[in-house]
Amino acid sequence: MKSLAAAVFNVAFSAWGLQQAYCWFIADNSHVTISCYLLLAGLAALAIQINLSLINNYRMQSRARALGCGDVAVYPHKDPILGLDAFVEAIRAFNSHKLLDLYTRRFALCGPTYYTIALGKWMLMTDEVENVKTIMGPKMEDWPIDGPRRLAPLLVLGPNSIFASNGDAWHRARAMLKPSFVRDQVADLRCFDRHIRNMLAAIPEDGITFDIQEILLDMTMDSSTDFLLGYSTNLLTKASPEAQEFVKNFEYASRESAMKSRLGTILHHLPHRELDEAIRGLREYVRFYLKRAIAESKKGGARDRNYVFLDELLKSNPPEDYTIDQILSILIAGRDTTATAMTAAFYFLARNPVVVEKLREEINSAGDDSPTWEQLKRMKYLNSVIKEALRLFTPVATNSRTANKDTVLPRGGGKDGKQPILVPKGVSVRWSVHSLHRSKAVYGPDADEFRPERWDSDLRVSWEYIPFGGGPRICPGQQFALTQIAYALFKFFRTFRSVEARDSGPFLAQASLTFSFPHGCLVSVTRA
Ligand code: HEM
Repeated sequence: MKSLAAAVFNVAFSAWGLQQAYCWFIADNSHVTISCYLLLAGLAALAIQINLSLINNYRMQSRARALGCGDVAVYPHKDPILGLDAFVEAIRAFNSHKLLDLYTRRFALCGPTYYTIALGKWMLMTDEVENVKTIMGPKMEDWPIDGPRRLAPLLVLGPNSIFASNGDAWHRARAMLKPSFVRDQVADLRCFDRHIRNMLAAIPEDGITFDIQEILLDMTMDSSTDFLLGYSTNLLTKASPEAQEFVKNFEYASRESAMKSRLGTILHHLPHRELDEAIRGLREYVRFYLKRAIAESKKGGARDRNYVFLDELLKSNPPEDYTIDQILSILIAGRDTTATAMTAAFYFLARNPVVVEKLREEINSAGDDSPTWEQLKRMKYLNSVIKEALRLFTPVATNSRTANKDTVLPRGGGKDGKQPILVPKGVSVRWSVHSLHRSKAVYGPDADEFRPERWDSDLRVSWEYIPFGGGPRICPGQQFALTQIAYALFKFFRTFRSVEARDSGPFLAQASLTFSFPHGCLVSVTRA
């Protein structure tokens, strides 16, 4: 009712205002300049916009009531038009790498589901497991990847990549990639083995402080390019100038495209010469290996490894640029995420010597120095350590989707937030996996602590624990990532007795395409 009254009042007030302005400007226009006309046109456009949105609000509220949906909490903005107060606070939190804490504080303030205004646009924030499950699962078709989530990878990967596409284009990309993520390949640890050995060799003498995140980023780039293209960048040993240039372009393009996606759709399309050049460089590097793979397969030459992702992709004879889109998608999806997950494991282990001791006991009792995939999977404590690290520092710490029609979510309405809510078409919804993973209601009062033993107990979680997402778009590289992390930790603790933290600052997370440690992860080691 309130919204109907506001709409009626506003329409009447705008009509009166425009009539007064007409009398003043047009009936006696002797004193009127061109800028007065422009001002009048601007005010008229604003009045129309406000009226349309009030009428739309009224329409949505009537429909929501008819569907049994409740009202949703709204963030207490000081600027209720553009939401600049919340925006400035978010920029500050982003710059100080505390964005995830800010989201958690806002959920505590407003409740698990609330509306906020992001530069004049309504956005829904939710931390409600049922809502996240609905969006990624049964109602996925209503919630395509759009808005900031799509803009971020779009410039680098193009509209057909698995990471930025929806509907038929997504089905096509997923179907093309799925057969290449086969169990045989994931279980074949030879590809990881060489790069993990290089990583161990790159670690300095006992007691010397170094940044383990830097080494892990090099290692995951070396293993990802090896697995995808059949040729490694070899950053940890003897990288060619072309490989070094490729990695420079990769890091620059990921950073800049994530930054641009925060500026919104219009500014996102502004020309950016350096970014265009970096993307061109990236694509040409992959094209070189693509052409080489095609030429070699025509010659019938055998690889020194029996599985290369690119060779599998080429079996379906896809167009060249389409293949490059998908290869870069996998590199973007898999490299930084895996490096961050491993860094997180070392971050927490370096602060928990008792856990390290228990982990080493399990690893040392395994016998063989090079475990098989099955042996790794059987190591319960090792897998709990990885699970716990991914819970507390999840590389895809926030995610979002945009409604492509007016649609209902099961929670967030009414005073207790338990009623369903009607979300209008075009509204983006963001959720924080980081705060889901630290829910005290699910994980207990010590939810913020690193305690791998919690996974031994009868803790039963499904959508409360989603480091790899869920539903039909669940990460296809999950087993690949988990196996690589488990193998790296196994080899590391066979070589080193301990790892000690060498930085004492607060827990920070840097937002880019995914999250990482902004100042690296400083540690030192002691050999076994
Ligand atoms: C610890 C490491 C990783 C984490 C935490 C992770 C997390 C995720 C998450 C949360 C999604 C869903 C995104 C969304 O729904 O918007 C996703 C998608 C994806 N991931 Fe991973 N990922 C990891 C490693 C990998 C690896 C190693 C690969 C490939 C080798 C990979 C390939 C992909 C691809 C292709 C998608 C897109 C799937 C689709 O849209 O259908 N990821 N990942």
